[in-house]
Amino acid sequence: MTERQSSVLLEEETTAGSYFVSNYPPYRYWGPDHVPAVHEALARPPAPGTPLGLYHHIPFCRKRCHFCYFKVYTDKVASDVETYLDATIAELELYARQTFIGGRKPLFIYFGGGTPSFISTRQLTRLVEGMKRVLPWDEAEEVAFECEPGTLTEGKLTAIKELGMTRISLGIENFNDEILQLNGRAHLSKEIDRAYSFARSIGFPQINIDLIAGMMGETEENWRDCVRRVIEMAPECVTVYQMEVPYNTTIFKEMKVFGQTVAPVANWKTKRAWVRYAFAELERAGYTVTSAYTAVKDPARTKFVYRDALWRGADMVGLGVASFSHVGGTHFQNEHDWGPYLDCVNRGELPVFRALTPTHDERFIREFVLQMKLGRVEREYFARKFGADPVERFAEPLGKLRDEGFSEIGPGHIVLNRDGLLQVDRLLHEFFLPEHRE
Ligand SMILES: C[S@@+](CC[C@H](N)C(=O)[O-])C[C@H]1O[C@@H](n2cnc3c(N)ncnc32)[C@H](O)[C@@H]1O
Ligand code: SF4
Repeated sequence: MTERQSSVLLEEETTAGSYFVSNYPPYRYWGPDHVPAVHEALARPPAPGTPLGLYHHIPFCRKRCHFCYFKVYTDKVASDVETYLDATIAELELYARQTFIGGRKPLFIYFGGGTPSFISTRQLTRLVEGMKRVLPWDEAEEVAFECEPGTLTEGKLTAIKELGMTRISLGIENFNDEILQLNGRAHLSKEIDRAYSFARSIGFPQINIDLIAGMMGETEENWRDCVRRVIEMAPECVTVYQMEVPYNTTIFKEMKVFGQTVAPVANWKTKRAWVRYAFAELERAGYTVTSAYTAVKDPARTKFVYRDALWRGADMVGLGVASFSHVGGTHFQNEHDWGPYLDCVNRGELPVFRALTPTHDERFIREFVLQMKLGRVEREYFARKFGADPVERFAEPLGKLRDEGFSEIGPGHIVLNRDGLLQVDRLLHEFFLPEHRE
C-alpha cells in the first residue's frame, strides 16, 4: 500500500478528535485576555432587531457515556444540585442589570446538558420560577429541554409541560440494550418506550429524538431496526449524529492505554451510509430533511428557534458551568470547573473565563459555515448583512466544493447536495481563515 493510500484509509477510519463545527473562530483562539470586551459588550445597548436567547447548562448525569465530551458530573447530591441551580439564578440576576438587555424579553430558552431531566420536579419548578422572576419569558417562541429517557416519569413530564417547555429532546441514541450498555448509556430500551408513551399521552407539543449512527457494536441490521422504530414512533423531529470520539472521552482514554489510533466505532463511510439510509427512510415516511442532522415531520409547524436564531447571530446568554454565550458581537465561555464557577457567582462577579471578539470577516465566516449546515444558504441575506456576496467572498472553497460535486450555486442560493450535506462538518474547515484551519 502506498503512503497516500494508507492516509486515505486512515481518513476514512474514525480517529480521535472532533470535526463537528459548532462555532467560529475555534474555541482554542478564545482567551482570558479578551474578557474586558465582554464587559464592554454588556454595557452597550443591543443592536436593533437582535433577538435574545437564554441557554441554561445542567451538568448532571446518572452515568457518563463512554463517547460523551460534555462537561458533566455524576457524583453530585441533591444539596449540590440546589446550590448550583441557585447560583445560575444569581448569575442571571447579574446579567439582568446590564444595558445589553435593552428591555428585550428572550425569544428562546434552551435547557441543555448534561441532562436537564436529571433534576427533580421540585428543583425544576424552583429553577424556572426563579429565572422567570428575574427575566420573564412570556414572549418566548420556544422553550427547549433535553432529556435522558431513564430520568423521566409521568409526573416529571407533566411538570415539564406545565412549566412551559414547548420542545423536549430525548437522547435515545439506539434501541438495542447491548449497544446501549456497551456505550455506557444509563437507560435501556424499556425506559425509552415508557418515556415516549408518557410524553405522547400528555400531549407534548414537540418531541425530538436523538440517534447516533456508528456507536460501538452497531451493525447494519440493527441500525435499520433503529430507523424503523423511530419512524413507528413518529416524533415531530429526528436528529441523527455521526459518532465522534473527542479526546476527553472514555473511549479515547482506553484507546491511549492500548496504543490504538483507530476508534472502535464505525468508519466515516459507514456512518455516512447509515445517515443517508435514515434520511431516505424518513423521507419515504413523509419527513423533510432540514439540516445535516435533522428531519422533521412538518417543516411548516416544527421550527427549531434556538438553532436558527443562533446561526443568524442572535445574542445568547449562557448560564452555568462551562456555558457559551454570544453578546453584542463577542463570544465568551464561563469558568469550566465547579469550584471557580460557584466562587465567582457568590462574589457577585460574572463567571466569564475566556472570550473572543471576531472581526467583521470572521462573523461573516461564522454565520456562513453554520448556515451551510442547513444545506441551503441565501446569498441576499449575507449581501445585506455583511456587504458582500458569499459567492465572491468564498469563491475558492465554493469552487472546490462544486468541482468535487457537493454543491451548486444558483442565482439566489448556494445549495449542498445530499453527499455534501452528509459530510458538511469536514468540508466547512475549508471556509476558515488559513490560521484557523488546522
Ligand atoms: C447533551 S446530550 C442529550 C441529553 C442527555 N444528556 C442524553 O444524552 O440523553 C446531546 C446529544 O449529543 C449527542 N452526542 C453526545 N456525544 C456524542 C458523540 N461523541 N458523537 C456524536 N454525538 C454525540 C447525543 O446524541 C446526545 O443525545
Ligand atoms: S451523552 Fe448525555 S447522558 Fe451521556 S454523559 Fe453525555 S450528557 Fe450525559
